[in-house]
Amino acid sequence: MILYFTGTGNSRYLAMFLSQLLKDECINSADYMKKNEAGLFKSEKPYVFVFPTYAYRMPHIFEDFIKRSHFEGSKKAYFIMSCGADTGNAIKYIKHLCQEKDMEFMGLEVVVMPDNYIVMYARTSEKEVPAIIEKASYQIMKVSSTIHEHKKCNDLSISIVDKIKSGKINDLFYKFFVHADKFYTTDACISCGICEQNCPLNNIKLVEGKPIWSDSCTHCLACICSCPKKAIEYGNGTKKRARYYLSKEQANELIKNYNKR
Ligand SMILES: Cc1cc2nc3c(=O)[nH]c(=O)nc-3n(C[C@H](O)[C@H](O)[C@H](O)COP(=O)(O)O)c2cc1C
Repeated sequence: MILYFTGTGNSRYLAMFLSQLLKDECINSADYMKKNEAGLFKSEKPYVFVFPTYAYRMPHIFEDFIKRSHFEGSKKAYFIMSCGADTGNAIKYIKHLCQEKDMEFMGLEVVVMPDNYIVMYARTSEKEVPAIIEKASYQIMKVSSTIHEHKKCNDLSISIVDKIKSGKINDLFYKFFVHADKFYTTDACISCGICEQNCPLNNIKLVEGKPIWSDSCTHCLACICSCPKKAIEYGNGTKKRARYYLSKEQANELIKNYNKR
């Protein structure tokens, strides 16, 4: 079973592609998170968790979801972590999670995808995206064989700096950055409600046609990046920055093209 979390669609694409290659079901954790429910999952095939990197770790919201959920059947767990560049020492916390859930850690595959963190810096340029996705897709094809054969993934080497990134820096990031209070809409908002629909945490409600953010934001950026009118901003920094969003339709199109090759 493939269980994923995504903000801007990268991890969804990887999960969908893997699901097709492994002929296994693909579940969006947001279907549960939106209702504030834990999952009760049953699978005889290994569990594959697919998710982005947030400050050199698995998003806390996804880790908590896995902790609260029940997994029956297979004890094997693979982790596919999409990132812009660097996952630090995320593996340490994933191994702890496996111990806590009594699952066998089968490996962490780090897959570089276009970077989406536009509240801090510019996204990956449009020109670079196809080559990055091509490389990532090739990597997914390779790891699908590893998973299919129930083999372990290669281990990763970790430096002291990686330990600091996933430790102290992750703590500080959540404490000082991960808040919704800087999101606002401009006059370009057409009250379409796409931000509300796409928020995986149900943290946005339209009030008199305009989105209002509550306080369970995890900075996934689904709202700001999927707004069709570019009507959402975050402070001043995002005003001049392009958005990044890989929709489900685009993901299906990419997969269809791979199937034709
Ligand atoms: C809150 C946040 C923090 C991020 N931190 C990192 C990071 O530490 N390292 C990294 O390489 N990419 C980081 N990124 C980039 C994303 O991990 C990357 O673009 C990912 O593929 C997005 O996946 P998604 O489209 O499934 O949400 C961060 C993105 C967000 C939104």
